[in-house]
Parts: sequence; structure tokens; C-alpha cells
Amino acid sequence: MEHWKADSEGIAVASEALRQGKLVGMPTETVYGLAGNALDAQAVASIFDVKQRPTFDPLIVHADSMDAALALASSVPAIARHLAEVFWPGPLTLVLPRRADLPDLLSAGLETVALRVPSHPVAHQLLKECGVPLAAPSANRFGRISPTTADHVLEEFTDAPEVAGVLDAGACEMGLESTVVGFPGGDRVVVYRLGATPLEELNDHVDHLEWVRVADAEDNPELAKRGEQSPGMLARHYAPRTPLLLLEQDAEIPDSDAGTGWLSFQGHPGLEGPQEVLSVKGDLREAANRLFGCLRHLDALGLDQLIAWKVPDQGLGAAINDRLTRASLR
Ligand code: TXA
Ligand code: MG
Repeated sequence: MEHWKADSEGIAVASEALRQGKLVGMPTETVYGLAGNALDAQAVASIFDVKQRPTFDPLIVHADSMDAALALASSVPAIARHLAEVFWPGPLTLVLPRRADLPDLLSAGLETVALRVPSHPVAHQLLKECGVPLAAPSANRFGRISPTTADHVLEEFTDAPEVAGVLDAGACEMGLESTVVGFPGGDRVVVYRLGATPLEELNDHVDHLEWVRVADAEDNPELAKRGEQSPGMLARHYAPRTPLLLLEQDAEIPDSDAGTGWLSFQGHPGLEGPQEVLSVKGDLREAANRLFGCLRHLDALGLDQLIAWKVPDQGLGAAINDRLTRASLR
């Protein structure tokens, strides 16, 4: 696959590849996506194929404006339109009733489609130039750590001929995926996935926000069909290959063998072995931004186990703890 600079030339080449049904690594403000033409059933199928993603787990469709995004829905509840007006462009994904002519696989057979308008200028320009909405899951193989740099995308997909290249726009600003919200019955607001738009910010605009905790999610397709939870809530996710043990925020240092790597919020004195610190100054934004990169570093060391501490459970911290929890499940 090609490694393109994200300048106007690179964007032009990438959008031509997309129009021809190829896939492209696309930078967004959250993580890098593996993008393909959302209206082309073949391109959508090759996203599932290349990612080795199970076909019950639907994709997010990206558009360059609110109107273009909402045009892919068959109806838009008032509260959904309000959230789109407040949070787009940005890291919020809205799950809405889908237009019948969209490829079925996009929605994994559900009656809904996930929509988002990214704020990253390169994503915006690419969407504008290729002139079609782009389906883009995070550009990692299924269940693995999400990519926050173009190099991560290159590592995941070097050997995949369907991926034409990646547009390199440096590290992603947020480093954590979008928050995913659905509207079962058209009047409820349910958070399916915590992410880069904190619950507290959503709460300011929603009377009664519901939230499905990972621990409460079941592997039950009926619940997904009714919009009670997202198919992507499959517990183990965002996972390093090395087993990860997750400790509460204030837990003492446990006994450990050589071959242990550590991940802490602000740094722990007295640890033996490699340690990654999410944010020395205790900034949750910085921690969110560094999370997946730190996990990748530790995972590459070939250790026997990783031990991580939870971070404070507010704002972006809730989403960080969600990813750490899923990474720790076996
Ligand atoms: O920040 C992001 O959202 C990134 C960038 C590339 O935009 N994309 C991303 O996509 O994280 P992905 O495919 O890794 O995660 C999509 C999530 C999954 O949890 C999926 O189950 C959920 O959105 N989802 C998609 N369509 C849905 C639907 N119709 N109903 C419920 N959940 C849906
Ligand atoms: Mg993903």
C-alpha cells in the first residue's frame, strides 16, 4: 500500500482510488479509519474482508456535512437533529433509521445506519473530493488496538492489496473513537459506546440519557435489533496480544514477575520493568490521546503480562476505562 502525504495531491490520488472501489486509510480527529465508498456494496464487503470483521458488526458512515449525513437516514428524530447541530462536525456518531437503498452489509442487516461528520480537515477534504459518503471503521484488524498514526495503519494492512494507501496527517488529535448514540423508539437516547464526546457534554443537551455499560451488555442479537445495545459491544475489544490485568485507580502495586509491563495514569514510583505513563500532569485529554499508542508500545515488547490502573472515571476518563476494561477481558 502507498504512504501518501495528506496534501492536495495525496488527497486527489486517494479520492480517485476510492471512486474505483479501493480502500484508503483516512485520518480523522478520533482514530484512523479504513475508508471505502459506502454506496458500493463491493467496497463495503472488502472492508469487512480486509479487517476480518464479523458481518454482524455494522460500520460508521462518514459525510462532509450534516445535510449529506442526515440524507442517508429515512427519518431523523428531533433530538438526533439537535445533537447533530451541536456536536457535528466532531466525534459523535448517531445511529438512525436507514435508507433502504444503502448496502445491507453496511448496517449488518439492522434497520439502522451509524452516521458521523468528522472534523478533521483532511477527512473533510477527502469526503468532498470523492463525492460519496465513506464507510470507515477504525483501521485495525478486528478486536485489535485502534490506530492513531499512519504507521499503525501501514503495520496492520501492508499485505492487503485492496488497501490502496494511507493519507498521513500525523497523529490523531483525540486518539479515542467517537461516542456512539442511538434513538430506540425515536424518543429515547441510548449511549452504545463511550468515546471522545464525554457523557457529561451529552447530558447538557439530553433530558434522560441512557447508557449501556459494557459489563451489562449481552451477546444477544435481539437486543441489537431493538436498539437496546450495539452489536459492537462484544466485550473483548481494543486488545493487546499480551494479557492485561486492570486494577482500580487506588490499588497498591501487586506482586509481579519479571516480564511484567505497566500502564499508569500519572506514573508510579517503585515499579520494576517497562512502564508507560498516560499523562504525568494528570490530563485526561492527553491520557486519551496516548492510550492506544502506549498499549501498542507495551504489546510490542513481548512481555508475559501488562498491569494497568484505571484513570479517574469522569469526562474522557470513563471512555479510557471502558477501553481498558475491554482490553483486559479474555
Ligand atoms: O471514531 C470513530 O468512530 C472511528 C472513526 C474512523 O470514525 N470509527 C470507528 O468505527 O470506531 P468502528 O467500526 O471501529 O466502530 C463502530 C461502532 C461499533 O461499535 C458498531 O457496532 C457501532 O459503531 N455501530 C455501527 N452501526 C451501528 C448500528 N446500526 N447500530 C448500533 N451500533 C452501530
Ligand atoms: Mg473499531
